Amino acid sequence: DAQLDEQCRRGDKVSDALVKCTDKGFPCPPTSTNPIVVDFTRQQEVKRTREPAHLLRMENREKYKEAVAKMKALPKENPLSFDAQSAIHEAYCDGHYRYDPTEKNRPFDVHFSWIFAPWHRMYIYFYERALGELIGDDTFALPYWNWDHPSGMALPAIFRDKDDRDPSDSKKKKSNPLYDPNRNGDHLNALVDLDFINTRSKPIPFDDTTNPAYQQAVQKNLCTIYQQQIRLAKGPRCFHGDKLCSETSFRMKEINERSKRRQDSSTKLKSSTSGTLERLAHSSVHVWTGRSCARDPRTCAAGHDGEPHCTNDMGFLGSASRDPVFYSHHANVDRMWHLWTTKLGGKDFEDTEWLDASFVFYDAGGGSNGIENPQLVRIKVSDVLKPANLGYAYDDDVDEAYKKDPAKYSKEKLPWRDIKP
Ligand code: C2O
Repeated sequence: DAQLDEQCRRGDKVSDALVKCTDKGFPCPPTSTNPIVVDFTRQQEVKRTREPAHLLRMENREKYKEAVAKMKALPKENPLSFDAQSAIHEAYCDGHYRYDPTEKNRPFDVHFSWIFAPWHRMYIYFYERALGELIGDDTFALPYWNWDHPSGMALPAIFRDKDDRDPSDSKKKKSNPLYDPNRNGDHLNALVDLDFINTRSKPIPFDDTTNPAYQQAVQKNLCTIYQQQIRLAKGPRCFHGDKLCSETSFRMKEINERSKRRQDSSTKLKSSTSGTLERLAHSSVHVWTGRSCARDPRTCAAGHDGEPHCTNDMGFLGSASRDPVFYSHHANVDRMWHLWTTKLGGKDFEDTEWLDASFVFYDAGGGSNGIENPQLVRIKVSDVLKPANLGYAYDDDVDEAYKKDPAKYSKEKLPWRDIKP
């Protein structure tokens, strides 16, 4: 820890990370040469309620598909196109930004540190607003993949099929904008394993509910969430991860390789500098969903050379956001943070270095310019601590059933909460 603090003191600050974008192909957030970046202002009203993707009403399913289809149809150069939106994530985790100034030109990464939760909250907030704007609906809310509940422990059906039936003609098909070909074919209708990173378990069919192995696996998933949200989540550092500084923001692989090379376990960083929110269900769902391209470089969209367990799209951070399910996955990660602070007594950091860290995003709904000419908005971590300030809520917050009988509701809705592992 002393070592990490020392590196932080040397000045690898979050706010410096945006200065340089090393890849001209990306729709980079602007540097100071761009004059029009406005500061984020709080939403006055909560208009969007995020709901579980597997329980969506038909109407909302169609809206979601229509919005994503429209986003995919925008020209690539538009910062709100699906390609450009997904490139944002890629840019922020695949070494396209560098710390500057820095003595080592280290890559900046929004993973593996306390920046993880707030940055992803910002990212999907602007994504959600763009989708809403595309279909002219300011109540549009991103559905979340409810993998912490037994009924949601599979890839939500709306994402699964390549084609949909055409409502106007049942014999015709139209392609499903939520589909992604780079998924693990064995997991399309399987029970998710929230500890997949460690187990690499064989798939159990999602409808095989009477199978004792199925019941066991569900319980194990609930335990994983219990660990992530309660047992191992004591305090912001455990839950969110370590303070961002150069050492912690390295990719885990690099960190581990380095300590291996040094043959010195005393300099080896803890198994991860990510918090439980990032390290547990979040990571496993990524790897579980992605298509494995092990040992065949030709099928690896990320350009890997077929190392074991090489996966994309969801399975690899650089390509994950190319899969539309990424955003619904992260809506649930975001909900997990929100539940931690609102229902589980979690307290976020009070460190101003965290609270004042800011990022710039394109906003479709921020000005009069909309989709064609989105407004650049600078948003700080302190702006995003409460979803209400961003104009959205989760069904957990607004559900009448919850207000009437919190204990019963909590048991049904958050079955991991009172589990005795
Ligand atoms: Cu930026 Cu789930 O990762």
